[in-house]
Amino acid sequence: MLLKSYLWLLLCYAQNASSNLVEECEAVSRHLLAPPDRPGETLPVELGVEETSGCYCRATTKVELIVCFGNYECKSFPQIKLKSEILRVRMTVIVKISEGQLDTLYHLKVLEIEANHKLQHLEAGLFKNLTNLRHLSISYNTRLHTVGPKTFDGLINLQNLTLVNNGFTNILDLTIAFKPSILPLLKWLDLSENTFETIPEKAFEPMEGTKLKKLDINLCRLDFVHQNSFLPLKHMKELNIGENDLNASLIEQFLLRMVDEGINLTSIDLSSMGFRRQPPRALLDIIAQTSIKRLELSHNQFEVIYDDTFPKMVSLEILDLRKVLALSIAANAFDPYKFPNLKVLLLGGNNLPGVHKKHLSDQLLLLDMSNNKGMAPNPMYFEIDKDTFLQCKKLKILDLSFNKIKSLYNYTFTGLNNLQILSIENGTLYYIGPGTFKPLYNLEVLNLANNPLNVNQNLTGTQFQGLNKLKILTLSNCGIRYFYEDDNIFEMMPNLTQLILNNNQLSYLSAEILKPLKFLELLDLSENLLVSWWRPLFLASGIKPWRSYFTNNKISHFSISMIEDINFLLENRGNSTITINFMDNVFSCDCGAMYKTYLWMQVNGTKNLKRYFDHSKFHCSGPDLWEGRLVSEYLSTIKNLRCLVYKKISNVMLLMWTAPSLVTLIIVVMLVIIIIKYRIYITYWLFLAKLALGRKLIKKSLKTENVVPKGYKFDAFVSYCNEDREFVTEMLSQLETTPYNLKLCVYERDFEIGSFISESVLTCINESKYIILIISNNFAKSQWCRWETQLAEYHRLFLEDGSIYDPLVLVKIGDIENKYLTTTLKYLLKTKIYHAWNENNPEEFWKKLRCVLVKR
Ligand SMILES: *[C@@H]1O[C@H](CO)[C@@H](O)[C@H](O)[C@H]1NC(C)=O
Ligand SMILES: *[C@@H]1O[C@H](CO)[C@@H](O)[C@H](O)[C@H]1NC(C)=O
Ligand SMILES: *[C@@H]1O[C@H](CO)[C@@H](O)[C@H](O)[C@H]1NC(C)=O
Ligand SMILES: *[C@@H]1O[C@H](CO)[C@@H](O)[C@H](O)[C@H]1NC(C)=O
Ligand SMILES: *[C@@H]1O[C@H](CO)[C@@H](O)[C@H](O)[C@H]1NC(C)=O
Ligand SMILES: *[C@@H]1O[C@H](CO)[C@@H](O)[C@H](O)[C@H]1NC(C)=O
Ligand SMILES: *[C@@H]1O[C@H](CO)[C@@H](O)[C@H](O)[C@H]1NC(C)=O
Ligand SMILES: *[C@@H]1O[C@H](CO)[C@@H](O)[C@H](O)[C@H]1NC(C)=O
Ligand SMILES: *[C@@H]1O[C@H](CO)[C@@H](O)[C@H](O)[C@H]1NC(C)=O
Ligand SMILES: *[C@@H]1O[C@H](CO)[C@@H](O)[C@H](O)[C@H]1NC(C)=O
Repeated sequence: MLLKSYLWLLLCYAQNASSNLVEECEAVSRHLLAPPDRPGETLPVELGVEETSGCYCRATTKVELIVCFGNYECKSFPQIKLKSEILRVRMTVIVKISEGQLDTLYHLKVLEIEANHKLQHLEAGLFKNLTNLRHLSISYNTRLHTVGPKTFDGLINLQNLTLVNNGFTNILDLTIAFKPSILPLLKWLDLSENTFETIPEKAFEPMEGTKLKKLDINLCRLDFVHQNSFLPLKHMKELNIGENDLNASLIEQFLLRMVDEGINLTSIDLSSMGFRRQPPRALLDIIAQTSIKRLELSHNQFEVIYDDTFPKMVSLEILDLRKVLALSIAANAFDPYKFPNLKVLLLGGNNLPGVHKKHLSDQLLLLDMSNNKGMAPNPMYFEIDKDTFLQCKKLKILDLSFNKIKSLYNYTFTGLNNLQILSIENGTLYYIGPGTFKPLYNLEVLNLANNPLNVNQNLTGTQFQGLNKLKILTLSNCGIRYFYEDDNIFEMMPNLTQLILNNNQLSYLSAEILKPLKFLELLDLSENLLVSWWRPLFLASGIKPWRSYFTNNKISHFSISMIEDINFLLENRGNSTITINFMDNVFSCDCGAMYKTYLWMQVNGTKNLKRYFDHSKFHCSGPDLWEGRLVSEYLSTIKNLRCLVYKKISNVMLLMWTAPSLVTLIIVVMLVIIIIKYRIYITYWLFLAKLALGRKLIKKSLKTENVVPKGYKFDAFVSYCNEDREFVTEMLSQLETTPYNLKLCVYERDFEIGSFISESVLTCINESKYIILIISNNFAKSQWCRWETQLAEYHRLFLEDGSIYDPLVLVKIGDIENKYLTTTLKYLLKTKIYHAWNENNPEEFWKKLRCVLVKR
């Protein structure tokens, strides 16, 4: 970011050399404060193949710019009918451009004919109708070896002429074509990257009288420049002659001649000139005597810069010493006494181990110390001495990026009260002490991107104290996971307009956090782990950035809150165009995720909101059917009917999903209660099931073999209640004695001690051939006996299969009151033959009973 601004600054400075640099600096900061232009130059309009030439052309939306290209098909200059301001013709196989082919392009302001590797000939007069052209570039056409003296005829308004990297070898051929009578307004001529080797004395003679201000002849393999060669260029201010092989004495000579002739250069580029160990002192002395304000010495090799390396250079304002392999700088090298007007000092890309107190002079506006690696064999942390900047009251821009800065303390920046821009990006910064930025109360831009800030520390308000005027904060890729509502760092920077938080690990941001940022215009949250949010963010905080980026997060659907937020942003920005970018998320295009959104939009959405979604470009990432297709497409195909079914299902699902644990819990508790309460019955049912299986098997074998069932331990089980015990005793004595010797199971007598009563009953029933129920009024009344009846009844039912074998034997004692008779008992007494106890004739009763039991 800052590098771009330097270029801008230097450019601007060069073009307008007389203006005040302080204003320039302010312009830079204003320029930086404007939101960055995100989308690059796009050429969305296809113009298709231009028929006469075979070139393919595209244009910007408003057709200010047309670009034509076409490797093998594009054989002649395209005949464009549309009136654009800018035309580029590149990568074609055009060999020759003839007179008349460009006549219809008289409206052009900028024409670029570049990288046409077959282009050899430009016919004289071909530009003669391009009277509006301001900027012409004919570059990277490597087979173009020369131009004729009349090639540029007619370009009466041309200001910029760029002829970079063609096949030119003789500068004398060219300069005839640049005569001021042909190009009266030419200001900037760029002849870089052509192989001239020498610039003879008469090279620029044909240009005598020109208004040229800037000449570039970088990288032209120059090893000789005649001392008088630049003298015809009386108005030249800026000479860029870097990356050649000129020795210092040659440069000295032509500079001296220029001074003699009253050519007042303001800027000279001597980068990559092969200067070693020390800048050539004699040359520096001469430059010190000129009006040169900007001296570029980058890409030379000056390991140590001593106190006396530079002479007193009163005019110098910008000194570029980037990438000169500097290891150390003596304390008074840039003493204000020697450089009273130095405003910009560029020391980036060297091997300096840190910034120390006396390196700096208090007149500086901009200091670039970026990208200093320390000494290569043993890299160290970049050191900033305590109170280093104490004297730098005027410093406005400080670049400390790409250094191995480890920590910042409250004394690091003391003195920088006027600093406006500070960059510490791509460092190794993991500690920022409380109050670090407090002295920087005029700071407007702070870039802390790509530092491991969150490794050892949570960001706290005290760290950012004092940044009341901060407008732009960049915290990209700082490993931030949360912002804390109770210690909100943004309360320290109420005037923030741009907040860049991309590439962190944020999954959630609350309205409370954003609330202090009333002036926010740009919010970049791309490349985080954000998910759909459930409480309004912008609506609740009232902030209205007109650009917000949520690209490349984990957002799966649009919650109502999100829709409300988008609606709010779209509705509340007056005339400015709103950007809300949700590209590259993981939208799931199904009813569950989208139906509510859709409904809300239909009912409550404004026109703008609908238009926003209609024009949106974000894609679905699931389900399979919709993967890779546009979310807008999905929304437009949602039909009420299709999702209505879903809605009903979803209500049920909601119940199941919202209270699954509760339901499970209730079911489990109920089951446990039932089991405890009815454990007897459960045992019984289990027993019956077993029994049924067992009996069925037995029955099968009985039927097939026609054998009388055998193997019962008892002849009969007697079910009775305690009140009838006497009768049972009597029954035992009647049946168990000889000669019958029947064996009866009576539960008081026969049950194993300690065995669970019902289990014993069940076992006993299972092992008995008959079941005798002693039915009396008491029997009917008692619950237990009733249970036993049921048991016996079921036992009987299980065995009922049409055979005459019926295990149930009923003995009725006395009359039974109707109210005590259960359905089963009633049924039994109705359907079965029972033996009624007859007190008057007991012998007859016992006989009958015995007959039943010993039958078969
Ligand atoms: C040359 O330019 C003029 C306007 O400056 C225009 O009217 C004229 O048509 C152009 N000539 C051709 C051949 O297009
Ligand atoms: C000259 O070229 C420079 C650099 O490309 C550009 O910034 C400037 O606007 C051009 N001037 C004109 C008049 O086109
Ligand atoms: C610079 O080059 C000129 C001629 O090419 C030569 O005479 C002179 O000695 C050179 N000076 C240095 C310092 O190399
Ligand atoms: C260069 O500066 C000198 C002295 O300041 C002045 O006399 C002369 O006119 C200037 N030359 C040009 C071309 O502006
Ligand atoms: C800096 O912090 C230290 C404690 O860490 C404190 O003693 C000192 O007063 C602070 N200095 C300033 C200028 O705030
Ligand atoms: C800055 O750091 C980031 C992350 O560590 C890296 O991706 C990026 O390339 C670095 N920038 C430069 C110019 O080296
Ligand atoms: C940062 O905050 C989290 C959660 O509040 C806490 O668990 C953690 O210990 C904090 N880390 C430091 C270095 O203070
Ligand atoms: C915030 O900015 C406004 C204008 O943009 C300005 O009036 C106000 O003084 C600034 N607040 C602070 C604390 O600097
Ligand atoms: C929006 O633009 C219209 C005219 O284009 C203007 O009248 C109105 O004041 C502008 N509103 C805002 C808030 O800038
Ligand atoms: C429309 O908005 C109202 C008020 O905010 C809300 O009650 C209603 O549920 C919304 N309609 C839909 C379909 O979401």
